Amino acid sequence: MATIRTQVGIVGAGPAGLMLAHLLHLQGIESVVLESHTREYVESRVRAGVLEQGTVDMLRESGVGARMDREGLQHAGVELRFGGKGHRIDFQELVGKSITVYAQQEVVKDLVAARQGYNAPIFFEAEAMRISGFDAQPKIYYQQQGAEHEIACDFIAGCDGFHGICRPAVAPEQIKFYERQYPFAWLGILAQVPPASHELIYNYHERGFALLSMRSPEISRLYLQCDPEEEIANWPDDRIWQELRVRMATHEGFVLKDGPIFQKGITPMRSFVAAPMQFGRLFLLGDAAHIVPPTGAKGLNLAVADVRVLTRGLVEFYKHEKKEELARYTERCLQRVWRGQRFSWWMTSMLHRFPQEDDFSHQIHLAELGYVTNSRAASTSLAENYVGLPFDTPGLF
Ligand code: FAD
Ligand code: PHB
Repeated sequence: MATIRTQVGIVGAGPAGLMLAHLLHLQGIESVVLESHTREYVESRVRAGVLEQGTVDMLRESGVGARMDREGLQHAGVELRFGGKGHRIDFQELVGKSITVYAQQEVVKDLVAARQGYNAPIFFEAEAMRISGFDAQPKIYYQQQGAEHEIACDFIAGCDGFHGICRPAVAPEQIKFYERQYPFAWLGILAQVPPASHELIYNYHERGFALLSMRSPEISRLYLQCDPEEEIANWPDDRIWQELRVRMATHEGFVLKDGPIFQKGITPMRSFVAAPMQFGRLFLLGDAAHIVPPTGAKGLNLAVADVRVLTRGLVEFYKHEKKEELARYTERCLQRVWRGQRFSWWMTSMLHRFPQEDDFSHQIHLAELGYVTNSRAASTSLAENYVGLPFDTPGLF
């Protein structure tokens, strides 16, 4: 068995693992990234689309923002639509910030290209099978092309997503899970048709939630609330467009043009937090430690925020031999994670229909949406959370 020695062993080449590897490289800290899938797979997996300004700044400042600056779509607001009428939340006017629509797989492509550009190790089709010794001498055991290898490192960064192997390696008595399942899922599509609006539209309707988003001036990204047990085969393209039109209809006759659908999928919705996020020399980052329902567009952004905290801790450790920042990793990350959870849960509850909801609940949804869109205080609260709470918020790293 071949052993590789590095400073930080990173499991997973999603946004968390790749961003961490990149920031560490800029600080002269070595790492090895393991990814169980192929490069093509991670560069084409369709997921998030909304980047907070803090995430955009981090990509730009670390030298991987050039394509995002050219191709990303900057949005100064979003629309909340209900009762056949749209209401714009103007982020720029309310909090002086924007968001950027730039697909997660494009961020992944830019980070993989950067890493390959400076020849730092990233192994694809290399599946971590087991980790050990994270209280003293961490090791990662992985398989590549049928052969077994190991990495000996100072620290392990578990960036291996919700279904990875790092979180399950922790003894059950050392970790607590907080969880909520939602009784619905999102059916998401990508379609070859110009977006029907230049900003995102979050729709609340008696038949359920719908979201209009986009990937480029030619490609629309749309979602429909559906049953979590729903089979994609029950949703031929015509039915999807028909349902989207019903849920997004306005009194002014909003027109949603259809086009060829080239990607379809159903995503279950859950909220999940693991605490703590550090176990000796093992750190969990991103979806490996927490999941949010996508209604708040926070998942990728929270993953990147964990990376920021861990990078700072590792830099303090390697450059100044200080361990205090590393020891505060969980505390610092979880403050932001729980604010992100609250916001995502709130957006989800406000905008979806729950099974067996009665007329009273429907009126409460409408009252809440009416309040959020008509009160400056309430719209500002939505805006400041949506664009991302600043890193210097009191009580928040
Ligand atoms: P992942 O992206 O899951 O990466 C983990 C990586 O680890 C994967 O590549 C996996 O193959 C690899 N891996 C797993 N196990 C192993 C192993 N044993 N060995 C080696 N490698 C392994 N977030 C937003 O911020 N904004 C949005 O608009 C948004 N929209 C979303 C829409 C949808 C439909 C979905 C599903 C998610 C959305 N998210 C959004 C959430 C966002 O996609 C995730 O939070 C983000 O991918 C988390 O990144 P990560 O690096 O932590 O994990
Ligand atoms: C997306 O474009 O994929 C997207 C946008 C906003 C969300 C979730 C997903 O809240």
